[in-house]
Amino acid sequence: MKMKHYANEQFPHLIHGGDYNPEQWIDTPSVWDEDMRLMKLANCNEMTVGIFAWSALEPQEGKYDFSFLDETIDRVYQNGGRIMLATPSGARPHWMADKYPEVLRVDGKGQRMHFSARHNHCFTSPVYREKVREINTLLAKRYGNHPAVIAWHISNEYGGECYCPLCQNAFRDFLRRKYEGDIGKLNRAYWTSFWSHTYDSFDQIEAPSELGERSIHGLNLDWKRFVTAQTVDFIKNEIAPIKEICPSVPVTTNMMYAFDGLNYNKLGEVLDIASWDSYPEWHSGDQEKTAQNNAFWHDFFRTLKGRPFLMMESTPSLVNWKEINKPKRPGMDLLASVQAIAHGSDSVQYFQWRKSRGSVEKFHGAVVDHVGTEHTRVFQAVKRMGEILGQIDEIAGCDVSAEVAILYDWENMWALDDSQAFAKNKKYTETCYGYHKALWKRGINCDIIGTDADLSKYKLVIAPMLYLTSEATIDKLTTYVAAGGTLYATYMLGMVDENDLCYLGGFPAGNLREVFGIWNEEIDTLFPEETGEVVMGGKTYPTVDYSEIIHAEGATVLATYGKEFYAGMPAFTSHVYGKGKAYYQAFRDTGLFQDEVLETLSNQLGLQRSIPSPAGGLPYGVTAHTRTDGQTVYLFVENYSDNPVGNIELGAEMTDMLTGERRTACSLPRYGFAIFKSQDKS
Ligand code: GLA
Ligand code: ZN
Repeated sequence: MKMKHYANEQFPHLIHGGDYNPEQWIDTPSVWDEDMRLMKLANCNEMTVGIFAWSALEPQEGKYDFSFLDETIDRVYQNGGRIMLATPSGARPHWMADKYPEVLRVDGKGQRMHFSARHNHCFTSPVYREKVREINTLLAKRYGNHPAVIAWHISNEYGGECYCPLCQNAFRDFLRRKYEGDIGKLNRAYWTSFWSHTYDSFDQIEAPSELGERSIHGLNLDWKRFVTAQTVDFIKNEIAPIKEICPSVPVTTNMMYAFDGLNYNKLGEVLDIASWDSYPEWHSGDQEKTAQNNAFWHDFFRTLKGRPFLMMESTPSLVNWKEINKPKRPGMDLLASVQAIAHGSDSVQYFQWRKSRGSVEKFHGAVVDHVGTEHTRVFQAVKRMGEILGQIDEIAGCDVSAEVAILYDWENMWALDDSQAFAKNKKYTETCYGYHKALWKRGINCDIIGTDADLSKYKLVIAPMLYLTSEATIDKLTTYVAAGGTLYATYMLGMVDENDLCYLGGFPAGNLREVFGIWNEEIDTLFPEETGEVVMGGKTYPTVDYSEIIHAEGATVLATYGKEFYAGMPAFTSHVYGKGKAYYQAFRDTGLFQDEVLETLSNQLGLQRSIPSPAGGLPYGVTAHTRTDGQTVYLFVENYSDNPVGNIELGAEMTDMLTGERRTACSLPRYGFAIFKSQDKS
């Protein structure tokens, strides 16, 4: 039986479109006419409208004007397109800030911001929440059941913190609930006897800030948790009227690349669809790294809802906010879009449809440039992408199935970054990228999971630097290995609990010491110019940054240190626990060591590769991924390198979906890709 999980069940197709701001062109209706012609020409089937349109929709308090949106939604629909409708809360009208200053954020020094920019509302303000609820209700009533509207785009790129009195009070309430009104409990959790920082009551608590308390790690962690919880609560307030009025229309919000401010696993819980804005820095050095790091985030957002996601934004050419802003080279325009589809996106969407004339984003890439015609390189590439999506539309809704997962956890990142020892920059995310790279190079599909995930479906779980390991996570990892799973963890595992208090009794904490059969006694931190050495099977590997001094307590020692006072001591171990196996890598390597370990492990565990790959992985810049509906397998082969690659074996005869040819191998030009389809298994 075919199994599909469309990102958007309302529109079971691959989506091609992007952010469209007709409100910027209200005075020039001829531009709207042209937009309709050009959208069709560009093979776009979707437009995301209403983001930042609040002052057009409600020019004065309580005085609404929906005419531009009425017309846009109808016209896009008549033109064969669909709409993702935004709630406008990402920016608010001037009148609102003037009349209700509480909607504006307060910074860590207690200064209230002036009306400016965007993404800067107070997320507690009852007035702002009420205003958002009102406008969302009106939008949902007016358009929620319009046949064009296939999804809600809630606000835009949530992020940031507010330190106003309302937020401070909400934080205190959050803590009161968490610590059951018992300040003693909080003091114990925060270890406040240190430096005499004991709290007498919840009323004394302030958010950590540059003027205030920053030395209590438990407080810092709870503040970050609160910021996520308050943002999620704000989102719930946004979604409530929508769910009441048009419950079958899915909601999403566009998230960002490597954004550390919000625990996206929590945001995922209140969204129907995961979506994100993908802006990798192409053509800037190590292109393979750029591609693979971006792939990590595609994998994360797919895993977030365990089904296809949307690439809500990407630039058709350049962005305007990096140090150097380079247009995508011919080929990369298409390849970067195909990358999203290969990892499980059901859409290629752009920021933005038409370049604005003024303000800060006037030179940001767009499908329609200031010249205003279709006769541009960028427009033609978008048009071609639309054709390709049309040819491969049957891939919409296909899942990516992964047998391996990397555990990536925000709370762990926050705690790790806060810890004042070892190196200042712990490089947690980069470390996770490193393990992902070994899989990417071998065409092995990979999920990026949080600590709440069900581990039982994975043959291999990789847990880099899991410094904050709650008791629940310790239990989960223990159960996973006992039941037959393979766990590959690294240095810094199991050091602090959910309150950021160090575990007593030896690292890694609790059962983990038994699961891995090791004890981690000390950590040596290396200077950037220093390297260490690890020896495995007579071969020496360089190490960087961290070497833990561990003792085998039942584990088999697979590699030992070659240098320093801990030369000869274990550096890499394995241990059978229950029906499973636990590997511990006590040091940070340059990538070479873990690459070889994952080559061996993936063979031992029989992890499926999308195409055959040699022991060292595919050629530089080349990768492959698969999606499937359970019967047909769709194979994507991608070349991110600046050079062509020849003769990539597919491992079976497959049909090239763009040319119709049957092939067993392919050659790809620079930035080339090919999409194949297997025979139906039925
Ligand atoms: C973000 C925002 C957009 C736009 C783009 C520019 O993703 O959501 O509104 O500012 O960046 O790259
Ligand atoms: Zn506030």
